[in-house]
Formats: sequence, structure tokens, C-alpha cells
Amino acid sequence: MEKSPGKKLDDGNCPASEGKNEILEYGLRVFRPRHHKIRKLKRTHAASCHGFRLWPSSWLLMDFLDRQGLPKGARVMELGCGWGLAGIFCAKNNGAEVTSVDIDSEVFPYLQIHTQLNHVEVSTMHLGFDDLISGHLKGIDVMIGADICFLDSLADSLKRLICRALGVGVQFVAIADPGRSSFEKLSRQVVREMHGEVQDRSIQRPYPIEGQILKIGALRH
Ligand SMILES: C[S@@+](CC[C@H](N)C(=O)[O-])C[C@H]1O[C@@H](n2cnc3c(N)ncnc32)[C@H](O)[C@@H]1O
Repeated sequence: MEKSPGKKLDDGNCPASEGKNEILEYGLRVFRPRHHKIRKLKRTHAASCHGFRLWPSSWLLMDFLDRQGLPKGARVMELGCGWGLAGIFCAKNNGAEVTSVDIDSEVFPYLQIHTQLNHVEVSTMHLGFDDLISGHLKGIDVMIGADICFLDSLADSLKRLICRALGVGVQFVAIADPGRSSFEKLSRQVVREMHGEVQDRSIQRPYPIEGQILKIGALRH
């Protein structure tokens, strides 16, 4: 597991000239794809498994977590983190101890540039869903993910992973999605077999987004 430091690159101020190349929402600073730092990273790091941008479901997940509230200092694992903004949100706004997992190591430089921008630290883990065994999951309180169930095979992997996670004491799982058929397949199984619940959600900021949250378990505050 690698630590992604949060305090080197930027001084945290938002110069006016940077403003239009950043989104400021939910207490986070996020570079837009046209920001020169992102354009520079893209020349050397090509995420190959859809982790090349921040996906809208991440905002849905942040809005959900914002309303739900996390226990201070919760241990959070973000699955299929890509740029990692949902985990960074938990670290920044809830003091969470975050582990961000992705099968594609090329996403981590994008995550790191955002931990630095937001002055937080998260740990990264270069593993796929099927590689996460009980030893990785023990001690995690909350598991989150955004737009990570875009194939039927991922629905199967995620169902098994959620089952392993609940088995070692993970209290709460929340997965946001635009409503893909593979996510619906996962949701049906999890609702039936693990008392999961699906909520329709929509938000207006940073732009209109609709989708669903699959949640399992309950938070102990
Ligand atoms: C659509 S992107 C979503 C990224 C991020 N969660 C977001 O909302 O911006 C899907 C992410 O899942 C990762 N991924 C795909 N299959 C995976 C697997 N089997 N195990 C772990 N991560 C996976 C990809 O590398 C990518 O970063």
C-alpha cells in the first residue's frame, strides 16, 4: 500500500486565473480536464480502464455521503477510485482514513495531484476487486464506489467482494451509478440476498446529474 502525500504541489489558494479550470464543490477543488496540469499528466499516464476522467456518479456519491454524514475518522475504502475524489471528499470533510483501490495504476497520478490540491493524504492500493481478500478488508468501516459496475462480470465480482467485506465486519457499503444494466443486476441480487436498498438520486451541482445509490448496512455514529 502506498501513501499519497497531500502537501507538496500547491499552496491551497485558488488564484483567479485557475478558477475557470477548476470545480469547487462539496468542499473540494477538482481540476477540469483542460487544466494544464491534467493535460500534462495525460501525456505520460494513459488510464486504460475508464479512469481517465472524473465520472458524474462521484458527485452523486459525495452528495449522498454529505447528507448521510460519516463518523469522524471512519476507515473508508474507495473501490475503482479513478481520480479518487469521493475518497478525498471523505478524508477532507470527515477526517476519514482512506484507502483508494484501482486495477489500473495509471489513475494514481491523477489521484495524487488532487490529494495535493486538497491537502489530504490517502493510501493507494493497486488491486482488482477479485484480488481484495479478507486481510485487505479487515478494519474497514465503509466501502464506497462510483460508476464501477459497468460490465456484467464486474457485477459478479462486486457481489462477491461485498459479501467478503460484510463477512469481516465492514458496516456500510454505498455504490453510485448512472443506472447501467450491470448495476441493476448487482442491485437486484444485493437487495434480495443482503438486504440492500436502492435509492434514485439527483443533484444540481456542479451540474444536473441523475442516478442511483445502492446501499447495504448501516453506519454506527
Ligand atoms: C468509470 S471509472 C470510475 C472512476 C471513479 N470512480 C469516478 O467516479 O470518477 C471505473 C474505474 O474502475 C476501475 N476498475 C475497472 N475494473 C476494475 C476492477 N476489476 N477492479 C478494480 N478497479 C477496476 C477503472 O480502472 C476505473 O478507474
